[in-house]
Amino acid sequence: MLIEELLCALNEYLPRGSKLASAMRYAVMAGGKRFRPRLCIAAAQALGKDPRRILPIAAAIEMIHAFTLVHDDLPAMDNSDFRRGRPACHKYCGEAVAILAGDALNTLAFEVLARETKNPRVIEEIGHALMEVVEGQILDMESEGKRIRLKTLRTIHKKKTAALLKACVRAPAIQLKAAPIRLKALTSYAEHLGLAFQIADDILDATSTRKRLGKPVKADVKKGFPYLIGLERSKELAEEEKNKAIRALKIFGGKADALREIAVYVVERNK
Ligand code: IPE
Ligand code: IPE
Ligand code: MG
Ligand code: MG
Ligand code: MG
Repeated sequence: MLIEELLCALNEYLPRGSKLASAMRYAVMAGGKRFRPRLCIAAAQALGKDPRRILPIAAAIEMIHAFTLVHDDLPAMDNSDFRRGRPACHKYCGEAVAILAGDALNTLAFEVLARETKNPRVIEEIGHALMEVVEGQILDMESEGKRIRLKTLRTIHKKKTAALLKACVRAPAIQLKAAPIRLKALTSYAEHLGLAFQIADDILDATSTRKRLGKPVKADVKKGFPYLIGLERSKELAEEEKNKAIRALKIFGGKADALREIAVYVVERNK
């Protein structure tokens, strides 16, 4: 229900009627798990607030996420031709338009954030997270073909993936004026969740199929967790991070059940 409303909001925010607009829509409306908006909604629920209040934040973060995927798939980066079960954005509209569609999604997301939240702290939070994502992508590229240390891989995952997931709980919490102790608990939850999420992504990359995931597999086998520490240990580590994430939610009681379910889902998911 709330995800339906999120899709309506995205549909409203996205432009129409040009080559650029259809590339932006192609990237965002293609599907995907909508994991980040779900996380935003569950964070609001944990705080006992109406999640509808943070739907613009959830929509903006999903646009930012779609932008990072468009650029991540480009030949200059992961060179992936398939995303969300169909040709990658640059296969649909060409590289130049895909680059610009990514730029436009990012820009539109911040326009929406400014207009709908009127809260510089929220905008700063998400801007800061996105800077970390970009730094993480650089580190990820630099690690290509090298035998990196586990500590370095953790840093990459923290930046390229966990940072945006952290913003998914922190930005709504800031907008909803959560008490510092709750903000801290949500932050700790998302840090562990983010690591578990990217370890699971690496595991799926190594073990799943293109059909199930809707994206190429074995793309990061030489730089993922299973390559560095083995499949079993990777699964254990994801499980440990999940448990730490759940432990951080204690102060919320039953209101955080949706966040707990998300943590369980992250390690059990098959796509
Ligand atoms: C893929 O994210 C990129 C990573 C950070 C691993 P998702 O697995 O959430 O992709 P979608 O949104 O479901 O397509
Ligand atoms: C990408 O990580 C993280 C982003 C910031 C987009 P991956 O390269 O592992 O994501 P997938 O596997 O292509 O979805
Ligand atoms: Mg990548
Ligand atoms: Mg990739
Ligand atoms: Mg991956």
